[in-house]
Amino acid sequence: ISLLPFHTFGAKVNADFFTSVQTVEDLIDTINDNSKNFLILGGGSNVLFTKNYEGLIIKNEIPGFEIIQENDQFIDIKIGAGENWHDMVMKTVSHGWQGIENLALIPGTVGAAPIQNIGAYGVEAKDVIIAVDYLNYEDLKVKTFTNQECNFGYRNSIFKNELKGKACVVNVTIRLNKQWDFNTSYGAINQQLEEKNITEVTPEILANTVIDIRNSKLPNPKEIGNCGSFFKNPVLPKDVVNPILEKYENAPHYKVGDDFIKLPAGWLIEKSGWKGKTKGNVGTYDKQALVLINKGGATGEEAWDLAMTIKRDVFTKFGIDIEPEVNII
Ligand code: EPU
Repeated sequence: ISLLPFHTFGAKVNADFFTSVQTVEDLIDTINDNSKNFLILGGGSNVLFTKNYEGLIIKNEIPGFEIIQENDQFIDIKIGAGENWHDMVMKTVSHGWQGIENLALIPGTVGAAPIQNIGAYGVEAKDVIIAVDYLNYEDLKVKTFTNQECNFGYRNSIFKNELKGKACVVNVTIRLNKQWDFNTSYGAINQQLEEKNITEVTPEILANTVIDIRNSKLPNPKEIGNCGSFFKNPVLPKDVVNPILEKYENAPHYKVGDDFIKLPAGWLIEKSGWKGKTKGNVGTYDKQALVLINKGGATGEEAWDLAMTIKRDVFTKFGIDIEPEVNII
């Protein structure tokens, strides 16, 4: 079966078998009956298939939107892993619930959000997640992690480490605020609000502002195949970064604690000469070098090849090793 409809990069790859699941029981039965390799897919927006998948692809379509508790301050909602993240964000902001408006328009599903702790414009999924229910493949039981137990880090969690390939997220509980506390620290957000002359912000207004920013910087996967940021922004010791900051006075950078600095991989890639460049059927986006795009008919292998070339060139220029953010299959 062709995986074209099930991932956003648009590589022509096939899987031996494909199924979708709508309930946890479905998922348990599917895994129980299956003796092959299997891979759970959400929106397919953070994977690159470099070859055909020999095994079973299970698309997680578990629905759900259940209010667990609420008071004047907050509301807790349990959401099915298969729900579309952006649709969920727009639903919550329309109620005036605050907390994930900065995460509007992030592609993918709710179930994928805790796995890589999605983030944008100063907010991360970990800021609102209070619990994650997951199916443990060993005993096929559903278990719960608190926020703490998820071991969240920058684009990281226990699901990418100890539990990699051992568990599937089935639903996520988030806590949203009824008393608003916006994060407008990100430069581009302030700029947009000023340009539009907006002085009173609501969750919905901020979500729409983020949508405008993302649309102006990032390719729409429905039009141009891509899988979002291809690399993580490297977090490096100060003494490694300082010489770079001396050489490039305007280099964007963010302090991480007292001893580390995060450098935008997009900037490193641009300075290495790769912004808007094409190699065969793949390239980097001309407005954001961190995004690898399918120029039409690209294979995942070609994209991986370009990624490795970029990685090598960034290392040659800066001595910095950038790591993929995307799941490479
Ligand atoms: N920059 C360049 N050249 C480029 C791209 C970026 O010089 O080609 C510079 C920008 O000028 C800016 C800085 O790098 O000063 C940061 O760029 P941007 O605000 O676009 O954010 P980012 O660090 O490149 C991260 C996330 C994005 C998220 C944005 C907004 C990662 C790996 N990526 O990108 O997330 O939308 O911040 O908060 O952390 C994703 O994970 O798929 C993703 C799109």
